[in-house]
Amino acid sequence: MKSVLTIAEMKELARRRVPRMFFDYADSGAWTESTYHANEADFSKIKLRQRVLVDMTGRSLATEMVGEKASMPVALAPTGLTGMQHADGEMLAAQAAEEFGVPFTLSTVSICSIEDVKSVTRKPFWFQLYVMKDREFVENLIGRAKAAGCSALVLTLDLQILGQRHKDIRNGLSAPPKWTPNHVWQMATRPGWCMGMLGTKRHTFRNIVGHAKNVSDLSSLSAWTAEQFDPQLSWKDVEWIKERWGGKLILKGINDVEDARAAAGSGADAIIVSNHGGRQLDGASSSIAMLPRVVDAVGDRIEVHVDGGIRSGQDVLKAVALGAKGTYIGRPFLYGLGAGGKAGVTRVLEIIQKELDITMALCGKRNIADVDRSVLLEG
Ligand code: GLV
Repeated sequence: MKSVLTIAEMKELARRRVPRMFFDYADSGAWTESTYHANEADFSKIKLRQRVLVDMTGRSLATEMVGEKASMPVALAPTGLTGMQHADGEMLAAQAAEEFGVPFTLSTVSICSIEDVKSVTRKPFWFQLYVMKDREFVENLIGRAKAAGCSALVLTLDLQILGQRHKDIRNGLSAPPKWTPNHVWQMATRPGWCMGMLGTKRHTFRNIVGHAKNVSDLSSLSAWTAEQFDPQLSWKDVEWIKERWGGKLILKGINDVEDARAAAGSGADAIIVSNHGGRQLDGASSSIAMLPRVVDAVGDRIEVHVDGGIRSGQDVLKAVALGAKGTYIGRPFLYGLGAGGKAGVTRVLEIIQKELDITMALCGKRNIADVDRSVLLEG
């Protein structure tokens, strides 16, 4: 994968290798996709300061996110159906992240289960939780994450009702795919992907099927969220989950200053400024535009992370400059996975690391810990 130099190239390789419904699932935003596009576009509006004649030897990107060491301030975001981009996708991505020294976050709506990922990793990974109406199932999931040694729980707050993504409806998204002419055609044109899938037994939502009551066939994520996700979720439930989990808690999906203040008072360890990659509230602010406001409001009380629109190391540097202690990549690593499995994810991390390192140097900084708003033209 060394010939791939950018995330954009990786995306095009994935498009050619992954059946359309799964590529589109990763690549789509809600409704008009305006927030999805703003997440990326707002990064490019931020300008860096070019500095010269500053010693740039001995650089370091090493940092910590919620007290855990990371080789750079980048984690793999929790993404649904990752094991449909490539056979055993979550297991491969977790291994790539572990080897690279960055956190991997397993989604509740993953294909490989908590136990599957545990079986191929040595270091603790993070688990992302969706809250279902069936609290016994939620408690059980928390228990399974603890038993697997997960070191942080990422509680998603912004998807108790699903933002509509038109492409998923048109494609009839389901995992596993159905034997309709459309799905069969999509798979027949992606033989490499099919070969991989024939070699694994992991084809559906293995955290859920066989664990949640009355859920044996879970092919449609949208029907299932409508039925199972709890639209009454409140700050009281955050307390309930915090008590049961007892470990590091990260609240994901804060994109508003008032909510950030509430989160800072909740006893959580970190928040992720996020609009779910533009997949939920279409028309919401990009997360990078919201980040400095949140940091100004609560940055001294709680660790602030950000996701959404990060496609390069330059983007990571801008986010760190605006006060993010950590960033998450979702689509970039999915493109790597779709294009080349574990090697593709590793390559994505290498690309971002190199871009981040060189960009930091050209901004006159040697250590990521020293990066602040002074690297921005309008800091
Ligand atoms: C699930 O997390 C999704 O955004 O589809």
